[in-house]
Amino acid sequence: MLSGLDDVIAAETVLSDVDGQAGRLIIRGHSLDELVGTACFEDVVALLWTDLFPDGPSAERLGVELGAARARLFDRLRVHTAHLAELAPVDFLLACLTRVPDGNDLTTALSLLAAPAVLTPAVIRLERGLEPIAPDPTRSQASDVLRMLSGEIPRIEQVRALDRYLVTASDHGLNASTFTARVIASTHAGLVSAIIGALCALKGPLHGGAPGPILDMLDDIGRPERAGPWLEAALARGERLMGFGHRIYRVRDPRADAVKGALQGLVRGGHVDPERLRLAEAIERAALEVLARHKPGRPLETNVEFYTALLLEALGFSRDAFTCVFAASRAAGWVAHAREQMLHGRLIRPQSRYVGPPAREVRLAGSA
Ligand code: ACO
Repeated sequence: MLSGLDDVIAAETVLSDVDGQAGRLIIRGHSLDELVGTACFEDVVALLWTDLFPDGPSAERLGVELGAARARLFDRLRVHTAHLAELAPVDFLLACLTRVPDGNDLTTALSLLAAPAVLTPAVIRLERGLEPIAPDPTRSQASDVLRMLSGEIPRIEQVRALDRYLVTASDHGLNASTFTARVIASTHAGLVSAIIGALCALKGPLHGGAPGPILDMLDDIGRPERAGPWLEAALARGERLMGFGHRIYRVRDPRADAVKGALQGLVRGGHVDPERLRLAEAIERAALEVLARHKPGRPLETNVEFYTALLLEALGFSRDAFTCVFAASRAAGWVAHAREQMLHGRLIRPQSRYVGPPAREVRLAGSA
């Protein structure tokens, strides 16, 4: 049975490796644990994009060029934002991306990295009846996103938390959205086309659309003692528990703890009600216990999305825009994979096995 392409190697990459047995993520030769402690998002983008563009970017220049790209993009797209604002945030982002000229160069790549960073706060503000705020190109991506969202200078612990999330989600092997980007790039369509396709794949609830429903689950459960019965009932209805399970990981997703670490920084800074975290931890414990009983042969552990939901809520993002924040990080990996595919890959063209009826001489209804 080929459905799902489990274990099929569809690309060679120097970008990232997901070890599902050991629960380890390597990005360009650095473990995620090392990166979240030492690198900011701009460093990781420079690392991922190394040797993929003829004109850089250098790690030193990337922050400056990305800031300039945010400013350019805001000026270019501000005329479209108001009349597209009735769309759901991720569809708003997709619609705006179609206004970015397609290409394969570094300027296009920077625009694609800047777009979700600028457009996510803009669409959330429009939803709240507020005017979008122009970027400040001198700030880091994490700091500027938070400033454009709230209109205030963010606190250092908030910037660190978002930055850590952006680092954590920046790349993750050949997941569904990255594979989509590579398929599109393999036809030599431009980077904008590849990233629009990737975003379409990301928005599904089995991939990057999970965190919003996770908060709905938290709200519905409400109190720790209700977790077990609520989760049992959801499984009995045939539902999946959002934030649990992964195609590759057979142990806990290492990104879950990276994001939880960032969340704990926000708890210490007074940005999260400790009761909210205690509720989430109780639900996590109950879910792992219920899933182990429900599917004894299949390890189903916490994935990155579970604590991401709490982190993004605490930073002030609307839950219907969580997928856009994911895209603000993963665009780094999508662009790198698309460029790697264009430079070193071939057209991706697998085959399907025909299981329909054999050819026969039939006269179609209506034919003479
Ligand atoms: N809750 C309940 N049951 C589950 C879950 C879950 N979260 N995940 C898997 N299962 C069950 C399936 O129902 C299936 O059971 P069956 O064999 O009786 O039909 C079995 O485990 C295997 O499931 P598959 O769908 O084959 O596993 P797959 O590797 O395709 O699933 C996925 C991975 C899609 C992430 C899945 O675990 C899931 O739906 N999780 C919930 C959504 C979620 O959290 N998505 C975010 C993933 S992380 C990311 O993309 C960034």
